[in-house]
Amino acid sequence: MSDIALSGITKRYPGGVLAVDDVDLEIDRGEFVTLVGPSGCGKTTTLRTIAGFERPTAGTVSIGGVDVTDAPPYERSTGMVFQDFALFPHMTVYENVAYGMEVRGDHTDEEIDTRVAETLELVELPGVADRTPDQLSGGQQQRIALARAIAPRPEALLLDEPLASLDKKLREQMQLELRRIQEEVGITTVFVTHNQEEALTLSDRLAVMNEGRIEQVGPPETVYDEPDTRFVADFLGTANLFDGTVAAVEDGYATVGCGDLEIRARHRGEATVGESASVVVRPERFAIDDGRTGGNVFEGTVRFKRHLGSSVEYRVESGNDRELVVVRRSGTDARSVGDRLSLSVDAEDCLIVGA
Ligand SMILES: Nc1ncnc2c1ncn2[C@@H]1O[C@H](COP(=O)(O)OP(=O)(O)O)[C@@H](O)[C@H]1O
Ligand SMILES: [Mg+2]
Repeated sequence: MSDIALSGITKRYPGGVLAVDDVDLEIDRGEFVTLVGPSGCGKTTTLRTIAGFERPTAGTVSIGGVDVTDAPPYERSTGMVFQDFALFPHMTVYENVAYGMEVRGDHTDEEIDTRVAETLELVELPGVADRTPDQLSGGQQQRIALARAIAPRPEALLLDEPLASLDKKLREQMQLELRRIQEEVGITTVFVTHNQEEALTLSDRLAVMNEGRIEQVGPPETVYDEPDTRFVADFLGTANLFDGTVAAVEDGYATVGCGDLEIRARHRGEATVGESASVVVRPERFAIDDGRTGGNVFEGTVRFKRHLGSSVEYRVESGNDRELVVVRRSGTDARSVGDRLSLSVDAEDCLIVGA
């Protein structure tokens, strides 16, 4: 059964901005779901609607099977973590973590003591109870913000770009930590980020948002390998996109004319002769100089090369100002800037996506 359910959520702010537009989303108990999309697409508004800080213009929110659309935040069983941590600066770590339970007034002092100690263990900061937030590093403050949110054992944990202000190394470490803690507590989690890499790394499922709408929801592999729309393909990872017109359709495949070339690509039932279409090819799908000729082969020149650690990225100029991005595992198919090469890709690895 879904633990959080959004049905037809729409939010129009006073002044007219349509921030969220008819969003449906069901999240299972214990699931980690990420809302991801560019700045301004409505992620924070959606999260604040779940928390009760925003009231939707239309639609309903339910948590744990109860319709909470009209309930204020303090009557919802949610814990929230913000990008800027928002710890209470004049309170000790103990008081920050105990806060939610103190406000609810349904725990004895001993229970609060035990819970605070357990939660500080969980975030691996058992020794800092008496400090104030200004005596902690950024990463430690973030752990305490997480401890404060989960200490009252809410039904749902809501996180709005919680790692955005941490440097890359610390952010990656905290991503793993966050997943460990989330799984240990088994708490239903909604995570918001504009960082596609973070969304792909962390989530059981991700919901890709664009202009207030969810374009696709699914596990990271599915959304990456089988994007439903051009926007999703382009936003997640790197995509080579060929825009053209469908020239022929057969079972499962179609030929798309893109200027001077034709690409044979897989389609999922939506290709119609004469209509415009986009073809997505992921950079790791190309083969280099495999001797093939004919369809789905692109001749080109390496214009740019960069090492990404375990892989190498090439930018290949291939006719009519077209630039293709190709990624190869380090140590295989090494090429240099200026080299001529031939790129080929199977029709199976070219996918027609909706507009
Ligand atoms: N309180 C507000 N009043 C008016 N417009 C707002 C308010 N908060 C956000 N918006 C607008 O709503 C849209 C979505 O914002 P937001 O949910 O913050 O997006 P995101 O978190 O994806 O960056 C943006 O156009 C933003 O400017
Ligand atoms: Mg936001």
